Amino acid sequence: MSTLPKHVAIIMDGNGRWAKLQDKSRVTGHQQGAKSVREVVEYAVSQNIQFLTLFAFSTENWSRPKDEVSLLMKLLVTYLKKEFTRMLQNNIRLQTVGNIDELPTIVKNELHNVIDKTKNNSGMVLTLALNYGGKEDLTQAMKAIAFKVKNSIISPEKVDQSTINEHLYTRNLPPVDLVIRTSGEERISNFLLWHIAYAELYFTETLWPDFKKEDLQKALTNYAKRERRFGKTSEQLTT
Ligand code: FPP
Repeated sequence: MSTLPKHVAIIMDGNGRWAKLQDKSRVTGHQQGAKSVREVVEYAVSQNIQFLTLFAFSTENWSRPKDEVSLLMKLLVTYLKKEFTRMLQNNIRLQTVGNIDELPTIVKNELHNVIDKTKNNSGMVLTLALNYGGKEDLTQAMKAIAFKVKNSIISPEKVDQSTINEHLYTRNLPPVDLVIRTSGEERISNFLLWHIAYAELYFTETLWPDFKKEDLQKALTNYAKRERRFGKTSEQLTT
């Protein structure tokens, strides 16, 4: 069994607390957070991680102050513009999960541009979860399946786990092997609910703007020591 996770998903938390500790604005916290994104993405590529998914903006984040939401959107555009060349150099394919239609046009345009220009890259798949919520994803999938059942496109008896999987925003992703959450919070916060069914969870006190390649290395080393049983016994795994 591989000791390297194929799919790592990160809940990047603690930008605001980092800023408060430094007596800086939340804006600065998010800007520093974007720097960690850059470093972690590059390090993940160097470690041959195949899928990296980052929780960049949740469906719940719209309820933050308007200025903060707009700053996060601007940061995203800046990140995409700045990192585009590096993504090509690193053979990264960008994709998103979540309801992208509701994002500001400038963000959508930049996303479409980078997604299109990196679509033939064969290296790490970088997925940004944007306007994403696990419950919302399951709900839209159930709705799509219900319509297909109603219109006799799918028969109810045929609905199984793969039917549900195929209708999720996350359908192109393999199951998550490792979830990392920074800042000492130990919850999932509506992230990738379906895909984390058997994920290993790693929590660190490090605030996201301080999370650098050494921290990702630590998480990967910790993961490598874990025994993943997927419901089996330890003995069954060794025979
Ligand atoms: C959580 O910190 C972080 C977010 C809600 C947004 C994540 C955004 C970034 C890391 C920056 C830009 C992203 C990309 C992809 C370039 P928080 O604000 O909830 O921190 P707090 O809990 O300490 O207040």
